[in-house]
Amino acid sequence: MQTNILILGSGAREHTLAWKLIQSSKAGRIFAGPGNAGTAAAGTNLAVDPCSFDQVRDAVLANDIGMVIVGPEAPLVAGIRDYFLADPLLKGIPLIGPDRSAARLEGSKDFAKAFLVRHGIPTPGYRTFDRSTAGEVRDFLATLRSPYVIKADGLAAGKGVLIIDDINEAAAEVKAILGGKFGTAGEKVVVEQFLKGIEISVFVISDGKSWKLLPEAKDYKRIGTGDTGLNTGGMGGVSPVPFAGNEFMDKVRNRIIEPTMRGLAEEGIEYTGFLFFGLMNVDGDPYMIEYNVRMGDPEAEVVIPRIKSDLYDLLEGVAEGNLSERSLETDSRFVTTVMLVSGGYPGSYKKGMEITGLEETDDCVIFHAGTKAEGERVLTSGGRVLAVSSWGNSLKEALEGSYSNASNISFAEMYYRKDIGFDLK
Ligand code: AMP
Ligand code: GLY
Repeated sequence: MQTNILILGSGAREHTLAWKLIQSSKAGRIFAGPGNAGTAAAGTNLAVDPCSFDQVRDAVLANDIGMVIVGPEAPLVAGIRDYFLADPLLKGIPLIGPDRSAARLEGSKDFAKAFLVRHGIPTPGYRTFDRSTAGEVRDFLATLRSPYVIKADGLAAGKGVLIIDDINEAAAEVKAILGGKFGTAGEKVVVEQFLKGIEISVFVISDGKSWKLLPEAKDYKRIGTGDTGLNTGGMGGVSPVPFAGNEFMDKVRNRIIEPTMRGLAEEGIEYTGFLFFGLMNVDGDPYMIEYNVRMGDPEAEVVIPRIKSDLYDLLEGVAEGNLSERSLETDSRFVTTVMLVSGGYPGSYKKGMEITGLEETDDCVIFHAGTKAEGERVLTSGGRVLAVSSWGNSLKEALEGSYSNASNISFAEMYYRKDIGFDLK
């Protein structure tokens, strides 16, 4: 029997999930809510806001959905899993993603930091402030070295982390956040030590009892060549990551992943779904920077193409609590992705530009992010527009594939970074 699947979200991560799931013999119809032009081509888009749980409920019941995969964090932090479990008609329908309590790992930086400390997991030193302790911020900053890392506690649409060189500016910023700059997300503020190193993203899937390690990835967050300019949602990615050899990954497993999974169990938190460990490699030692309770984007566009096994089978293992019996085989080849973005992103940009040159060559797949189908035409509808992923036997070969395919695509004011993966070559 085949299962209809609803993927919530509208980015390249969600298109990648759809692309992978249609390859499964166990998958029935694939729906995305709200999706993009890529998911519309792979399946059917539904006009669903992932944070409007009643809309999700209606879509699930109307389309005989047998599995829901939650792409972004906001519905998880808001408790979509809890909503499903409390509804007589939805509670038997597997939803891939953690409940509200587990999603605090991403939904509250203060919760995540306290969890890390409770379980002895390496992470930069920090202190959390609220309005009642705002007067002590400057004295604490004086105990750290510049630059200063300031994080709004709650979800702030990717804008809640600031890195500031000047101590007075940093103190003023903490006060501004506590004063409401990011709304309720800033009722608490984490101030932490800056770490200098190379970032790497590591992923597991978990059924609450056991977990499996997925391929690791590196993403490129800054808009400009050489990691300069503003932070973005991610401008490209690479998997595998050459510096993440056995020695480093053993440390990640022993010092970070195992204590996390054990700590969750000890605290009575059953974690189901994807868990993303944002790590800093400091001279060969991993430190936890952040948890995300979902797959990364653009990491999904390089990690999922390296999974050779049936993804539906793995997710069914998550849903049924027998993940340990499922097989996870990975492709040893490199996959790279280059994100094509609208001119002006991550600031303001235009929408509605026609995209041409979307034909894929061998060993390349174009994942849609901010796109919209209009009849036969595909138009831009967001900042990050397309992720061009390619396989190669070497990093160089994969990058050549991504860049040669990217050069065939065009839309007005298209921009992309020309140096993805160059620091790893
Ligand atoms: P987060 O949302 O916590 O991942 O922070 C966003 C980005 O800020 C991270 O991906 C890092 O690039 C950077 N960052 C966060 N915390 C630190 C830190 N303690 N030291 C250095 N960079 C950091
Ligand atoms: N690429 C980082 C993220 O998905 O948060």
